[in-house]
Amino acid sequence: MQFKKVNSTPFNLVIFGGDGDLAFRKIIPALYYRFLDGQICSKSRILATSRTERSQEEYLLQLKNELQKHIKSIDKKNMDVMFKAMTHLCIKDKNDKEGISNWFQNNDIDISIFYLATPASAFGELSQFLDECNLINSNSRIVLEKPLGTDLDSSELINSEVAKYFTEKQIYRIDHYLGKETVQNLMVLRFANNIFERSWNSQSIDNVQITVSESLGVGTRGNYYDKSGALKDMVQNHLLQLLCLIAMEPPSKLDADEVRDEKLKVLKSLRPFDEQSIKTGTVKGQYTRGNSSEGPLASYLEDIGKYESQNDTFVALKTYIDNWRWSGVPFYLRTGKRMIHRYSEIIINFKEVPHNIFPKKEKSIPNNRLSILLQPEEKIELLQMVKVPGPGGYRFKPISLELDYADHFEDRFPDAYERLLMDVVRGNQTLFMRRDEVKASWTWIESIIQNWKKVGVTNHLYEAGTSGPGSIVMDPGHSWELSRHVEKNRRNAGK
Ligand code: BG6
Repeated sequence: MQFKKVNSTPFNLVIFGGDGDLAFRKIIPALYYRFLDGQICSKSRILATSRTERSQEEYLLQLKNELQKHIKSIDKKNMDVMFKAMTHLCIKDKNDKEGISNWFQNNDIDISIFYLATPASAFGELSQFLDECNLINSNSRIVLEKPLGTDLDSSELINSEVAKYFTEKQIYRIDHYLGKETVQNLMVLRFANNIFERSWNSQSIDNVQITVSESLGVGTRGNYYDKSGALKDMVQNHLLQLLCLIAMEPPSKLDADEVRDEKLKVLKSLRPFDEQSIKTGTVKGQYTRGNSSEGPLASYLEDIGKYESQNDTFVALKTYIDNWRWSGVPFYLRTGKRMIHRYSEIIINFKEVPHNIFPKKEKSIPNNRLSILLQPEEKIELLQMVKVPGPGGYRFKPISLELDYADHFEDRFPDAYERLLMDVVRGNQTLFMRRDEVKASWTWIESIIQNWKKVGVTNHLYEAGTSGPGSIVMDPGHSWELSRHVEKNRRNAGK
């Protein structure tokens, strides 16, 4: 494969945490692909910093090994072109200013991006460090990785520290779900099609279900995860962002602040939990030992090497958006680790028809259902009733209209980080969380954390490799639905 002709603005990119898992697994592979797509000109420069002393050659060798793990068929020639743009620098502490200052000397590139792929506790200190090195100017941008704090206060503190050195327009808070192609498609589905909008409200929609189900456990991230849990690791950011895209009003144009203003209104309209609704509207869980087709699975406590932990590896919530459009419509959110299947899906269940004109052979006419499968496959299906042909009167069968991305698009599906990185270069903040959004989502999450504590809500234990205890929050007549695509694929895969 050869590089395409490049015609883009050059940039200086500094990655703090340049030898970390995120850099090796996501950030640098994303750069590789965008080099390949011709979106990064070779004049751009990348500085990977870490605390470990190692030579440039040692770093590139390690990077090469890592890239080979994360990129399917790596093109050596093109990898070398990217490597030419890369420098490794060891920065041991805040007094180590010389190396980075020197790296910025004598180059005429305007845009500087500082990507903090480090724990959020370092964000304030690193911002101050950059300021003391005189590296911040009006063309500088800073990228912050989640999790931004562990509660409202800590997240506000981090944001305030960074805000001493960078303006809001320079801050790019990553939620990688927003960079996923299928998540961006939610905007297109809603706002580039006229058929949905008229029924996208409480008159027509019965309930919305958002599921992000992961089959993996906590792996090697036990240290971080045990201080976080499913609610803070997944709901506070990814699931709430999905909910915003489903529930927001149409922005007047695709402008970063117009879009984020609308998302903010949704977050502010989420009904906070109280001592009563916390019992009926939430369930948290933790996985115990279980089984998968590949063999036995360890429990969460075994995974993190502890005897005791009250941390949640699963959470299911039933919530409401208190505004005109969504009045009375339950939004069910569910996410968990060590689930039976890995899939992310949004299901919109429409209401049943208001009056059944057909002979009442069947008790009721099943409702229409729109399923949007975000991963691992990308599909949309609209379930509708049709008449079964032939004698026997009006007999119905639910059949779905299916749109499988793979049938229509042969292009590679870029990883979320590719799009997000290039948006930082272009200065487009639409897919990044604004500070007030982060604050509003933490404020709502706090109503869960505090009431869990107050009421003493404890974990339901669930076996690893199952669907978890989420059904507890479902209303009678509602069930967690797995789209027929997912079911079909699992069946075909013998799972
Ligand atoms: C991360 C969480 O933000 O998202 C992880 O910290 C989780 O715990 C991951 O596994 C899920 O992302 P994806 O893209 O694999 O669905």
